[in-house]
Amino acid sequence: MAEENRHPFLHGLSKHRGSPPTVVVIFGASGDLTARKLIPAIYNLAHDGLLPADFYLIGFGRKPIPDAEFQAIAAGAIKEFSRREPSPDVWNRLAPRTLYVSGGYDEKAAFDRLGERIAGLEKEIGQQLQTLFYISTPPTVFAPIIQNLGASGLAARYLRQPNQSKCIIEKPFGRDLASAQALNKELTSVFEESQVFRIDHYLGKETVQDLLVQRFANSIFEPIWNRNFIDHVQITVAEQVGVESRAGYYEQSGCMRDMIQNHTMQLLALTAMEPPVSMDAESVRDEKVKVLKAIQSLRLEGPHSDVARAQYSEGLIGGKLMKGYLQEKDVSATSSTETYAALRLSINNWRWQGVPFYLRSGKHLARRVSEIAIRFKRAPGSLFAESERYQIAPNTLAFQIQPDEGLSLILNAKIPGLETRTQPVKMNFKYATTFGSNTPEAYERLVLDAMIGDGTLFIRGDETERSWQLITPIHDYWASQGRKGMDTYASGSWGPKSSDDILAANGHSWREP
Ligand code: BG6
Repeated sequence: MAEENRHPFLHGLSKHRGSPPTVVVIFGASGDLTARKLIPAIYNLAHDGLLPADFYLIGFGRKPIPDAEFQAIAAGAIKEFSRREPSPDVWNRLAPRTLYVSGGYDEKAAFDRLGERIAGLEKEIGQQLQTLFYISTPPTVFAPIIQNLGASGLAARYLRQPNQSKCIIEKPFGRDLASAQALNKELTSVFEESQVFRIDHYLGKETVQDLLVQRFANSIFEPIWNRNFIDHVQITVAEQVGVESRAGYYEQSGCMRDMIQNHTMQLLALTAMEPPVSMDAESVRDEKVKVLKAIQSLRLEGPHSDVARAQYSEGLIGGKLMKGYLQEKDVSATSSTETYAALRLSINNWRWQGVPFYLRSGKHLARRVSEIAIRFKRAPGSLFAESERYQIAPNTLAFQIQPDEGLSLILNAKIPGLETRTQPVKMNFKYATTFGSNTPEAYERLVLDAMIGDGTLFIRGDETERSWQLITPIHDYWASQGRKGMDTYASGSWGPKSSDDILAANGHSWREP
């Protein structure tokens, strides 16, 4: 490429966050995620000046498409899904660097062609390119893609150099412990662990990263972050949407695999882990694995069961009558796939013994809201015991992950007046008020981190296996039960009674986020 066309994209990052010249190759280029998230993320990185001067994007897919057509598809995706209005100036720079290679995922020759295209670009610019492979296909083709990346030599390009090939792999990372182990084996037969970036997009959310800053950049939390002060923890990832057009995938997955095994478990790990020795990827992930290892196996049956599952039935959301799950298109009328799951976890370590962690997630719930609520023990009631005069709530620190990102603390305060009466009040910090609302999307941060080679916000192989190890017995048990024990909840409600019962057994109740 002529020197005058090599516009420097990079101007917006501190020096140590720069990426080497890079080509991102997306497998699954015609997929929904590519259009909704990946291409807009790359566009916004370009917009913010965060891409290296020599940057290319190659879409790879079965369908033969000329570069120009892929560029038009990408432009359409940016227009529809980017958080910013596309700027012609930015797009005109990115468009000629947006290319396409077609071929089958099981066709080694197609990967050789891909390699030739990358080598051609390197020749043109006279520089080596780091290759970041983004596997965003259905899991059925993960294995042939990985194998062909190995066989074609693409996985080993510039191995152990700063611009070594890297690979981001999308969920679902397995569907149980055995398949996750097999996938890890497949990956590590071709890549070294330092080249692999298993994505969980929740880790790219600003508020999730802020959880680490809040915990470890403030001195007031650490002394009270334990069983002496904390009564229990509630983690909620509630969605208002249903399965929409994804029943084909969802029927095979269900809430436990789709949300709990990954997103909510990650929130739990970051909330409960010990302070890492440093913020580098290995130290943070070591601590996450340690705390996941301390989680006790769950009770699956009987009145003291730690788990609940349910499907949504008909109900009103935003005044509109929504279908029940079993009436959704492409869902079996006898489906035993859960759209809601809740669990009670016990972490058997010095910090957390005796503190229940409650997790819940579901679709068609009252509101879209994700939060981590830390419920503190009540103050001794000797001075202000709960009564008509003294309304006293337990102190609760809530990290609002989305929407309306922020942090709130419930305290008890005196109602102004000539006698002492109390009432709970809420102290609120809102991101949008302090920092404005145009924050980067999770995928922007994660694609950039992978380009830089920073794995802190990605899942390590042993971490995903530990998480599956906890979840797999629940699936096995549920599979053995068929629909027996499947609860229901009205669309638009906060979930089933069986989930409330798990908390009630400990004298707790879900807070309304
Ligand atoms: C995905 C799940 O991982 O996360 C979806 O597959 C879910 O079912 C989505 O809707 C929720 O993500 P977010 O960022 O909208 O909370």
